[in-house]
Amino acid sequence: MERRDFLVLTASGIVALPYSAALAAAEPVVLTAAATLQQLLPTKYGGPTNLLGFNGSVPGPTLRAAQNTPFTVRLDNNLAQDTAVHWHGVRLANAMDGVPGLTQSAVSPGDSFNYEFVPPDAGTYWYHSHFLSNEQVARGLMGPLVVEENTPPDVDHDIVAMFADWRLQEDGTMAEGFGNMHDMAHAGRMGNFARVFLPKIELRTGQRIRLRLINGAVDRVFPLILKGLSGKIVALDGMPFREPREWGMPVLAPAQRVDIIADVTGPVELEMDHRQGAYPLGGLEVSGSVAPRQSPIPTLPPNKVSTPGDPARTLRLVMRGGAMGGQHGGDDIWSFNDVSGMTDAPLAEVTRGETLRIQMVNDTSFPHGIHLHGHHFYELAADGTRGDFRDTTLVDPGTSRDILCLFDNPGKWMMHCHMLSHQARGMKTWVQVS
Ligand code: C2O
Ligand code: CU
Repeated sequence: MERRDFLVLTASGIVALPYSAALAAAEPVVLTAAATLQQLLPTKYGGPTNLLGFNGSVPGPTLRAAQNTPFTVRLDNNLAQDTAVHWHGVRLANAMDGVPGLTQSAVSPGDSFNYEFVPPDAGTYWYHSHFLSNEQVARGLMGPLVVEENTPPDVDHDIVAMFADWRLQEDGTMAEGFGNMHDMAHAGRMGNFARVFLPKIELRTGQRIRLRLINGAVDRVFPLILKGLSGKIVALDGMPFREPREWGMPVLAPAQRVDIIADVTGPVELEMDHRQGAYPLGGLEVSGSVAPRQSPIPTLPPNKVSTPGDPARTLRLVMRGGAMGGQHGGDDIWSFNDVSGMTDAPLAEVTRGETLRIQMVNDTSFPHGIHLHGHHFYELAADGTRGDFRDTTLVDPGTSRDILCLFDNPGKWMMHCHMLSHQARGMKTWVQVS
């Protein structure tokens, strides 16, 4: 069986896996990282996959925190190697950002670490390992983080839909070979099996749902086809739109989130638009119907964010390297401004409150999803108009994207490609805000 066929073959199996119950924010939350076995493939194709999970599950439990309320998680490391947890997209205190070597020491096997922060923004976030992340996230150390609005929108179900892909052997076990040169120098470690994790609930036609789409894959961009839903996008990367927007085909780079609110018109199916055709990721069944709401798709309450002024200066961030990328000055596969990997000195020292324009230039043959820690930023249109407010931006090969960021959160913040294979091989840097 060809590996390429394998992806096609397994595509016909849409199986709902058990999904951990949401944890109430009031309970003390413990995340235990440990090896686990889980049936990812439909059983007719293979057995369980050897993974690393939080609390015995991939993805980890959906954590629900209340906006502007202290949230505490104890990480217990029961792995055979170090780890640390990053709270992706949350504008939190630097010491809680979970980056070993920059904001904390790695958590050794048998040790624990207390993460405590006050999430300022309601919305859809996620958490994942930030140690050997291209491998630990690919093995399963990631999960959804929902920061609840004080007044949630009127919907019948609030549903987390987390995507990922894995490279599996035919018996269902994890293919090793993490870090192989070919993957690293191209688009990264692409899985041969992909799916969406959804809770086991039955919908009725006419119900209104909120769907929180999260791309938890290490390297894969997901262009999505959503069936059985009529509605709009209400937020990107946790941050609400002023007005809901038509979705067309949502494209999620690794780590990006899209919130939609939609009315159910039939069985819900989520598919990935793939060169092999539409690839089914999973869905939700429908039985019966209710009278649909007449009200328009609601707007989410805005988060309190300071608006950046005009930029004090412009920074250039030129991505180079990879296959078909030509020479660059870095000493690894990928580089930013001809430097590979973390350096003692930051890319930029920024005074707290300063606004920077950053020109991200993709001088490579691959797309890169660039993530800045601890902040959200505006994507700028070519004419400088402020677009979406995000924490991860997808820059296509041979193009550039300017962003505008008000650096108002003091500390050492990583900026890196969220194609984690690229990050592992040089595409990372950091910014000091003081
Ligand atoms: Cu979601 Cu530095 O990562
Ligand atoms: Cu990249």
